[in-house]
Amino acid sequence: MQQLLVRPENMKRIDSPELAQAYIDEQVAAIRKQVGEGKVLLALSGGVDSSVVAALLIKAIGDRLVAVHVNHGLLRKGEPEQVIEVFRNQMHANLIYVDAVDRFLDKLAGVKDPETKRKIIGKEFIDVFAEEARKLEGIKFLAQGTIWPDILESEAGIKAHHNAGGLPEDLSFELVEPVRILFKDEVRMVGKTLGLPDPMVYRQPFPGPGLGVRCVGAITRDRLEAVRESDAILREEFAAAGLQGKVWQYFTVVPDMKSTGIKNGKRTDDWMVIIRAVNSVDATSATIEEVPYALLLKIRDRIFAEVKGVNRVLYDLSSKPLATIEYE
Ligand code: XMP
Repeated sequence: MQQLLVRPENMKRIDSPELAQAYIDEQVAAIRKQVGEGKVLLALSGGVDSSVVAALLIKAIGDRLVAVHVNHGLLRKGEPEQVIEVFRNQMHANLIYVDAVDRFLDKLAGVKDPETKRKIIGKEFIDVFAEEARKLEGIKFLAQGTIWPDILESEAGIKAHHNAGGLPEDLSFELVEPVRILFKDEVRMVGKTLGLPDPMVYRQPFPGPGLGVRCVGAITRDRLEAVRESDAILREEFAAAGLQGKVWQYFTVVPDMKSTGIKNGKRTDDWMVIIRAVNSVDATSATIEEVPYALLLKIRDRIFAEVKGVNRVLYDLSSKPLATIEYE
């Protein structure tokens, strides 16, 4: 039996820890009622929605939640480690960590077209998750981090959202969707009340294909490393400057293009790192953040000193439209 399919029209916005706690208590009871003594499977990406779903399920059914974290090699620096630390070490979740890095990067080798890259990443993800699901026995339920805007967008025909994870037909599960009727800010309030760490709760939006769409063109391991390391520097410096949680989305991009530089009196032929920092409400349009110049220069210095193969740092001034937020 699926519970709470539709958000009640008169439902109060969950904007306080008290309201969040009431929602948590209600959902814990609802999950226990739906699942009984059964087990629940969850793809735990480390994003806000799946993390909150995991924390709710751990509270409701403990180790009868089986959370699978697939590392596809396109996550940000430190993210797989954070998922393991928070869910396995602190919350004692029954967590299966799958290192699928080589598998994804081998499949993506030489693929330039952005939509083909997205399709490969999406399909490979389902394949890896389905393989893990087949190894497990006696699981009847699949939890999903569907939220209310997903339902509204699906109804409006804007986006076709994940349905039962897009899994093959032989793997059929009953869905458990404990944040289905919540807006994003409410999911965050529930996550914070459940004790999830701030960097997880206030995480900026991150695309499903991850750093794959920021390593523009055909992904290579060394250029992907340049994206990951420069992104980590940007995030560290934004956090130190108090911009975390204030700027809507910020990241670095490394296109498949080199330019001439000079190091120790010798010519270099290296990549460029592009810094992007934008503000938006719903991602349909965006303006650029006016990042203080001194901060940009500090980030540039760190990128030059710490990231291999880079001889140029640029700041993207483009709003959406005409540019999109991501580069592909
Ligand atoms: P664009 O680049 O279209 O991005 O201005 C708008 C928002 O959507 C995110 N984005 C994605 N999210 N899968 C996702 O889950 C994707 O393939 C994808 N592409 C873009 C982007 O990060 C921004 O927040």
